[in-house]
Amino acid sequence: MTTTKENIVSVFNVEEVRKDFPILSKKVYGKPLVYLDNAATSQKPQSVIDTIDRYYTELNSNIHRGVHFLSQAATNEYENSRVKIKNFINAVSHKEIIFVRGATEGVNLVANSYGRKNIKEGDEIIISTMEHHSNIVPWQMLCEEKNAKLRVIPINDDGEIIIDEFKKLINEKTKFISVVHISNSLGTVNPVKEIIEIAHSHNIPILIDGAQAIHHVKVDVQELDCDFYVFSGHKIYGPTGIGVLYGKEKLLEEMPPFMGGGDMIASVTFEKTTYNELPYKFEAGTPNIEGTIGLGAAIDYFSSIGIDKISAYEKELLVYATEKLKTINGLTIIGNAKNKSGVLSFVLDGVHPHDIGTILDYEGVAVRTGHHCTQPVMKRYNIPATARASFAFYNTKEEIDILEKAIYKVIEVFK
Ligand code: ALA
Repeated sequence: MTTTKENIVSVFNVEEVRKDFPILSKKVYGKPLVYLDNAATSQKPQSVIDTIDRYYTELNSNIHRGVHFLSQAATNEYENSRVKIKNFINAVSHKEIIFVRGATEGVNLVANSYGRKNIKEGDEIIISTMEHHSNIVPWQMLCEEKNAKLRVIPINDDGEIIIDEFKKLINEKTKFISVVHISNSLGTVNPVKEIIEIAHSHNIPILIDGAQAIHHVKVDVQELDCDFYVFSGHKIYGPTGIGVLYGKEKLLEEMPPFMGGGDMIASVTFEKTTYNELPYKFEAGTPNIEGTIGLGAAIDYFSSIGIDKISAYEKELLVYATEKLKTINGLTIIGNAKNKSGVLSFVLDGVHPHDIGTILDYEGVAVRTGHHCTQPVMKRYNIPATARASFAFYNTKEEIDILEKAIYKVIEVFK
């Protein structure tokens, strides 16, 4: 059968996929686990768990530092992961792939390296209202240090960036733009290609925070033409503590190192140190070797299913869940963008989201409650918090039915 957009969902076998994730058969409080906290972190397939196990049982050794067999083998696997990621996001060169701890460290690296070199007093940096704190605070810290100004793109009631307002914010003082690809608290998929084109029409470099996008939509950095793109491994079914900063080679070449230490140098004397070439200039110290190799295994697993199938199936799940929850009296969905992915945030009349979370938990349903590290989004909607169900391709419609039933239970308790 040829795979078309129409029949893609029918060829995706979720029950088969679930068998790859051992934790999904776990019970909590004697009930089947319904894991709907994927935006916080995803579960790991057996192949990733096995890869990390194999690393420690067969390969463990420091990389780039030894002539011995194990060191060379570990170095090869580490560098193979870099190539896998380069191919996965279609970067031009492996030199553009910098391993960091996660998306947060990626943003901090750019703010501290590119930002401290290029941002001057009176300059302006643009972000949006729906940024995660990790794409607000590093820029705020930079602005404080440099006496620069942070400008914020407003969003409409549906949780979409207002493009006309964005255009109005740009002026000759604008020196950097940093915008999220998919909002972790609203689920909005931002029109990043358009945003990047607008930035570049003014010659302004732009970073895209892809923490919530890399596992939901196709990311091709050459097609997007973004200057920087960051993501975390643990959101795309890989280990925690590993992530990627993609940067255009020319920009990375011109940037000073963020951290000093071993591996990032070419030569050291007490008079002067010269730095290693890309990407090592930005990878000081012994890195997260097992995490990097585990991330490579996660990319292999993810690619073996394919982003088209994953996106189509997750879209179907989100539509199904939205239709169900919309019919619940007293429930309001926060974030109704036309283009959404992965996330369903909601509030219930008269019930604090933490209470929703606790009661759902006793039903085996794991959701995140709180401000989701996006306090300005909560302020925009004048709410303290939301309950957030977030989906992965291993979730099922039956699980959404259980979520719906559990929400009715919350309403019953608070009646
Ligand atoms: N940023 C992650 C979330 O949205 C942790 O839950």
